[in-house]
Amino acid sequence: MPVEQMEWSEIRGSEAAGRTANKIRQVVDVDRITPNPAKPLISLGLGDPSIGGNLDTDPAVTEAVVAQLKSMRSNGYPPSSGLLKAKAAIVSRYSHPDAPLAVRDITMASGCSGALDLAFKVLADPGSTVLLPRPGFTVYETICKAIGINVHYYALLPGRQWEIDLEALAAFLRSTEMKIAAWLINNPSNPCGSVYSREHLMDCVALADRFKLPIIADEIYEGMVFSGQTFHPIRLLSKTVPVLTVSGLSKRWLVPGWRLGWIILHDPLRLMDGVRAGLINLSGTILGPNSVVQAALPDIFTRTPESFYSRTMQILQENAEIARECLEGIPGITFLRPQGSMYAMIGIDVARLNGIANDRQFTELLHAEESVVCLPGEIFGMPNYFRIVYCIPGDLVREACSRIRSFCLAHLKA
Ligand SMILES: Cc1ncc(COP(=O)(O)O)c(C=O)c1O
Repeated sequence: MPVEQMEWSEIRGSEAAGRTANKIRQVVDVDRITPNPAKPLISLGLGDPSIGGNLDTDPAVTEAVVAQLKSMRSNGYPPSSGLLKAKAAIVSRYSHPDAPLAVRDITMASGCSGALDLAFKVLADPGSTVLLPRPGFTVYETICKAIGINVHYYALLPGRQWEIDLEALAAFLRSTEMKIAAWLINNPSNPCGSVYSREHLMDCVALADRFKLPIIADEIYEGMVFSGQTFHPIRLLSKTVPVLTVSGLSKRWLVPGWRLGWIILHDPLRLMDGVRAGLINLSGTILGPNSVVQAALPDIFTRTPESFYSRTMQILQENAEIARECLEGIPGITFLRPQGSMYAMIGIDVARLNGIANDRQFTELLHAEESVVCLPGEIFGMPNYFRIVYCIPGDLVREACSRIRSFCLAHLKA
């Protein structure tokens, strides 16, 4: 029948839209469960440090943006891959004699998620495979599935502070016929709260070198480590392996809603001119992140006092300690002490708990009985765990974790 004679019919979402889902958002954005009306709801669900009102960004960060807004000089389209002065600010902050940077190595993006989207798209063709951590941040899979990239999950080892099982990964890489386009490494980690040692990162770089794998380093929690830990940017450890580091303002500067992220390209063997060109092409699809925050970036970097970063980490470390005090030593629960970021994974031995078959049921019952929201490990690929976020005020972390404790004790088998 000629198209002009057809009736209207339902217009469906595309196939790509159908296979695109964010598992965290599916849990936190949907109000399926009614909390206990006798207890005010406390969410340890979302990694948004701005929610609790206890972790505001520094006034210097706000003033830098206000100044740009008032100037009226930041209202136009920036170049798609980013404003020159924002890129130059990143070069001055992150360039290092062992891994020197130029503005051509920087791409600005809409949040770290936007940087991840560009990084996956520029390295991987549909049908190729990328290596993702298990457990890992859910947006990696969301992006890959949308593009039609296959995913192979590599294991993180809870008994070894969530280090990567490099032996198993090497065995897989030796045996597979798949075309592996990139290896994503997240450090410090969401959801594990782990921080990798220099030695472990060196072993990762050696493996990447052996199998000629470009690394996507998700370092959005850069520098967010507790006392006794050191953050090592992986690109500084690589003399051969190409590294695309993705990061942004969301976590360290506590402004996730501002949506400013970036990619830093480390190209020691000068293999990535095509990738640079590809990033410029790809950034043309959305014409870059917002101009005002980009223009404020030089001031954000230079005017934020060191005391702001240390205060943030002091609060997060104190809160992690509160969570540990409440949750350690409960039968049926394994609290794995975090080393940084704002998360901890907690193991559940369901065999020891009454009426709880798995981590999803654990978190749903916890929500219904104690009005505490946590995310089931299953959505990060790690059943029999749940994740807590401890960036809200310490008294709320204490109250929520005490309720988790009571919940576990109430469900403990005799
Ligand atoms: C590991 C990790 N990477 C990337 C992101 C995304 O950051 P953004 O909010 O800047 O898109 C998050 C956000 O929670 C994250 O935890």
